[in-house]
Amino acid sequence: MSLKKGEESCGVEMKEGVENAGFQEDSQAEEASPRRAAEPAVSAESCAAGEESYTQLRPYAGMPKEVLLLYSSQARYRVPREILFWLTVACTLALVALTVTVIVLSPPCLSWWQTTPVYQVYPRSFKDSDGDGVGDLRGIKEKLSHFQYLNIKAVWISPFYKSPMADFGYDVEDFRRVDPLFGTMEDFDNLLASMHSMGLKLIMDYIPNHTSDKHAWFQLSRNRTDYYSDFYIWVNCTEGIPPNNWVSVFGNSTWTYDPIRGQCYFHQFLKEQPDLNFRNPDVIKEMTDIIHFWLKKGVDGFRMDAIKHMLEATHLRNEPQVDPNQPPETVNTEFELYHDYTYTQVGLHDILRGWRVDLDEYSREPGRYRFMVTESYDYEEIEKTMMYYGTDFVKEADFPFNFYLLDLPEGLSGFRAKELVELWMSNMPKGKWPNWVVGNHDKPRMSDRAGEEYVKVINMLLLTLPGTPTTYYGEEIGMENVNVSVTQDPFGKFDPNNSRDPSRTPMQWSNSTNAGFSDSKNGTWLDIGPKYQTVNVEIQQGDPFSVLEQYRALNLIREREVALARGWLCYVWADNNVFAFLRELDGQDRAFLVVLNFGENAEMDLSVFKELPDRLTLHHSTLPNAPSSFPKSKITTSKGQGLLLEYSTSNRFHTDHAAQCYVSEKACYLSALDILYKC
Ligand code: GLC
Ligand code: MG
Repeated sequence: MSLKKGEESCGVEMKEGVENAGFQEDSQAEEASPRRAAEPAVSAESCAAGEESYTQLRPYAGMPKEVLLLYSSQARYRVPREILFWLTVACTLALVALTVTVIVLSPPCLSWWQTTPVYQVYPRSFKDSDGDGVGDLRGIKEKLSHFQYLNIKAVWISPFYKSPMADFGYDVEDFRRVDPLFGTMEDFDNLLASMHSMGLKLIMDYIPNHTSDKHAWFQLSRNRTDYYSDFYIWVNCTEGIPPNNWVSVFGNSTWTYDPIRGQCYFHQFLKEQPDLNFRNPDVIKEMTDIIHFWLKKGVDGFRMDAIKHMLEATHLRNEPQVDPNQPPETVNTEFELYHDYTYTQVGLHDILRGWRVDLDEYSREPGRYRFMVTESYDYEEIEKTMMYYGTDFVKEADFPFNFYLLDLPEGLSGFRAKELVELWMSNMPKGKWPNWVVGNHDKPRMSDRAGEEYVKVINMLLLTLPGTPTTYYGEEIGMENVNVSVTQDPFGKFDPNNSRDPSRTPMQWSNSTNAGFSDSKNGTWLDIGPKYQTVNVEIQQGDPFSVLEQYRALNLIREREVALARGWLCYVWADNNVFAFLRELDGQDRAFLVVLNFGENAEMDLSVFKELPDRLTLHHSTLPNAPSSFPKSKITTSKGQGLLLEYSTSNRFHTDHAAQCYVSEKACYLSALDILYKC
C-alpha cells in the first residue's frame, strides 16, 4: 500500500483519530454543511509541522515510528517487555503441563449409574392416575418428587409394552407400543421428558427371550410366513408327546403343540410366551432395531430380562435329572433338572456384547451414558453371573444383578451377611463395579423373610457397601408381603407357595383410600397391604427413625461422603449378630466404621486393630438414643441396629490387611486441593 503525502491524507488520518469510525456521512450531507467541511479535526498548523517526518506515520497513529523505536529500545522499556514475554511463555507452558498432569492424574469420574441407587417401579402397583385400580405411566409422573425426596436418580420401570398380560407385561405383543392400561406413547414421552428435566434417568425393561403368543411375529410364524417362519423354535412332535424332557421355569414341559403349524414350539416360561429363535440372524436384527427405537427416544438404559434363557442346544437331548431315580414323568419343575442344554449356552455373550456396542453408540454425548444390567439367577454358579461383566477387552453389562443378598434371611446373622458380601466381592473380576439387590417383583419382600426389625439395617447394608444398590418400590418404607385374596400371578397359580403376588401389591402412599395408590371404587388389582395405615410414605415423612427417613438420610450421606461412594471396603468383624466393615479412602483422614446388627443385642471389641483410634464418634444410628461415641473395645448394638461411626486417622487399614479389603474405581484424596487423583 502506497502512502501519500499531503494535507488530504493528513486530514483524514487525524480525523480518524477523533471521530467515530462507525459514523458515516453521505456526500450530500457533507456538501450541505460547509462549516464541517471547513473545519479540520486538527489544526492545519499541527498537521503541517509533522508533515516532513510523517511519511511512515500511518500504521503508528499517535506516535511516529522513529520516536517509538527510540523509546522502545531503551532498557526501561525493553527489559519489562522481555520479562513479560518470557513470563507469558512460561505461563503457557506451565498451563499446558498442568492440564496434562490433571488429565493424567484424574481418576475416572463415576457415571450416573454408579452414584445413585436404582429404584425399581412395578408400574401396575406404583400409582394409579385414572382410577381403574392399576398403576400407570401418568401415575409414575405424579410421583417423581418421591425420588427427589429420597435422592434417587435412576428409575427402572418394569415392562409397560403392549401386552395381553399373561405374565403382567413380560409377554410382549408389540415392543413399540405402550399398553393402553399404562397409558399412551405420549404419556411415556412426557414421563421421560419430566424425568430428564429433573435429572432422573429412566431404565427400561427389555425382554429378548420371548414375545407374547399374540405378537404378530408369532402369528406369522405359525403360518410359516416366509421371513417369520424361523422366528421361533419349532420342532416336529406328536400332540401330547413333547420332544424331550425339558421343563419350563413356570412348571411343566417347555413344549406346546400348535395345531395351526402342526409342530411344537418352545417356551421357557408360559405357553403364552414362545421363545424367540436367536440362532436366526433376522431375529437378532429385529430385536436390535427395538433397542435402537427406545434409545432414539432417549431412554437411559435397559434391564435385560431372563437372558440366560436366550439360546438352547439344537440337538434336543434330554437334560440330566438332579435325582436320577426320580420317575421322569414326575419331573415338572425347574429345580429337578440340570439345565445343561437350555441355560447359558455358548453364543449368548456375543449377542449381549453386540447390544453393548449399540448402547455405546448412543453413549458418546456427555452425560448420556446408556446403561445395561442383566438378569440371570445362577445360584451356586456365580462364575456364570460374573461373565456378564464382559472382559477387560470386550465390554458387556455394566453389572449383572447381584441376587445373592436375597438369601440373607436364610440363617440371618452377621456371618451370613459377610459371607454373601464376600461371595460377590471375591468373585467379581478386578476393576468391575459391585451392586446389591435385596428385593424385586419375583421374590418375597425382605421385611417378611428377615423380620420387620431388620428392615432398616438391611437398607443400611445396601447403602453403605461400595457399588450400586437396587431398591424395589416399597422397600424404602418397609412394605411387607400381603396375602392377597385372589391370585393373579400365573406362577402363583402353578405353585401357590411361591406366588409373586404378595410382593407386588400397591405402593402405600398414605392412610387414605387404597393407601393413596388409587381412587378406584372397585378395589385395586391386588389387595392393599393391611398395615398401610402405619406403613406408608406420608406417615413416615418427618419421623427421623422411620424406615423412609433412615433410607433418605443414609442415601444423602452416601452421596456426600466420598469414602462411602468410592473408598475401600475392609471387613473387620463378623459373628452371629454383627457384621462390621470399614470404608476408607487413601489420603482422607476421615474414615467410617459400619456396624450392622442382624441378630440380638451385642457388643464387639475391636482393640486388636491398631489402625483404629480408641474412640469412634457416632455419625448415624438407625435407632434412637445411641451414645455420641464408642470405645473401640466395646461397640454395642441392639437387635437390628445399624451404626455409622466416624473416626480420624492417618493409618490406612487396607495396607495392613490387604486380604480383607476391596476397592473399585480406586482414587486417592488430596486434602490440600480437595480433589481426587489417580493412585
Ligand atoms: C424375568 C422377570 C419375571 C418374568 C420372567 C419371564 O425373570 O423378572 O417377572 O416372569 O422373566 O419374562
Ligand atoms: Mg390406571
